[in-house]
Amino acid sequence: MARSDSFYVCQSCGAVHSKWAGKCDACGEWNTLVEEAPAAPLGTQATARKPRGRGSKLDLVDLGADTPEPQRLISGVTELDRVAGGGLVPGSAILVGGDPGIGKSTLLLQLMARLAQQDARAIYISGEEAVAQVRRRAKRLGLAEAPVSLAAETSLNAILDGLKSEKPDVVVIDSIQTLWSDQLTAAPGTVAQVRACAQELVRYAKKRNCTVILVGHVTKDGQIAGPRVVEHMVDAVLYFEGERSHQFRILRAVKNRFGPTDEIGVFEMGDKGLGEVPNPSSLFLDGREDGTAGSVVFAGMEGTRPVLSEIQALVAPAAFGTPRRAVVGWDSGRLAMVLAVLEARCGVAFGNQDIFLNVAGGLKINEPAADLAVAAAIVASALDVSLPSKSVVYGEISLSGDVRPVGRSEARLKEAAKLGFTRAIAPRASELDHVRVDGVATALELVQTLRAIAGE
Ligand code: TYD
Ligand code: MG
Repeated sequence: MARSDSFYVCQSCGAVHSKWAGKCDACGEWNTLVEEAPAAPLGTQATARKPRGRGSKLDLVDLGADTPEPQRLISGVTELDRVAGGGLVPGSAILVGGDPGIGKSTLLLQLMARLAQQDARAIYISGEEAVAQVRRRAKRLGLAEAPVSLAAETSLNAILDGLKSEKPDVVVIDSIQTLWSDQLTAAPGTVAQVRACAQELVRYAKKRNCTVILVGHVTKDGQIAGPRVVEHMVDAVLYFEGERSHQFRILRAVKNRFGPTDEIGVFEMGDKGLGEVPNPSSLFLDGREDGTAGSVVFAGMEGTRPVLSEIQALVAPAAFGTPRRAVVGWDSGRLAMVLAVLEARCGVAFGNQDIFLNVAGGLKINEPAADLAVAAAIVASALDVSLPSKSVVYGEISLSGDVRPVGRSEARLKEAAKLGFTRAIAPRASELDHVRVDGVATALELVQTLRAIAGE
């Protein structure tokens, strides 16, 4: 029987309910309500600070007053510094999310070692691994000599007490889901605990001007497990993602109060930990053979950086009644749109064909500029032709079948030229010396070009 003062918290969105239910009314998730029975109502423990004295007034200041730019901590891990917006901002709180085993602990240990070698006071607190385990990993990574202080601790109070006397410049908490505050009875990892612990740590970061990096695990569907509330509290949210079977790892900023959010950092997991990949295009195209039907090089942008990647399509007769549409690394809704445009505007029929689309290397593309490359790969596979050798493709396709110009055309072509590509199929008006651009105004023109190659 539930106690009358207990309540139920959705582990997905944090909504509080007075009664248990199978489905959370707030976010629609099933089976996420967990009973909690704290001594005081939720949210008051962490925020129950000293009451403001009577008559204390709000201090208002001018928006335009001079404020010195914070001196950022440049770690020297260039890929991470760029994603963070040009180094870590002192006093900021950063959430690093990612699937278990993707390499968060490895990345942050390497980061702390680099910072400590530059005389920053760096503390790494692990709630998941014992000290000996972290030491062993550091040794394997060749970082054992770095002056990083290490602790294995899960009690929030012990951590805060320790930090107060140590006065670090940067702290890693690995992970926020293992911490617990003795002011709550809820189990570690529940929304209430995670929220309370994150709130205290964010407050500590601001007050002591210390950069606090929180590690958070992500659920299968890509949410930072349970505590989406934490995303709102921190200054920056970085996702570390990649396919476990590939060695590439991508660090992506999804929120950043101190920099752009579309930057990515590319790393490669090796036996000596994570290595930086300053030129991702050559990595993503590694091993690609020119002249394969259905393989197209897409000239994309990731943040400020042009990145070339390979899009592969396979169109084959459907073995069963309903044709299959399988997509890896791109949006399946967008694929349906491109197929509809090809069928309705260009007279290419896929009714009884299976279609498989894959972005090689485990990269996830979410730019509309990939439309034309996807269409080219599908049509080329259907016609069994290969694109002109050394060519890249980009452009957005509208529902009317027009090919729209996309941003940063010159940067895309320059990257292509740098990697030895000499031709491009792109929206009209794209141009660059040394690259022959075949401008296409409509998807139909693309199909006609490929049909001409097929000799139809
Ligand atoms: P880890 O940093 O523990 O992941 P997370 O903290 O995100 O759970 O990374 C663990 C994986 O990385 C593990 O599968 C082994 C692999 N790995 C390497 O391939 N090389 C290395 O040098 C290290 C330290 C880990
Ligand atoms: Mg870990």
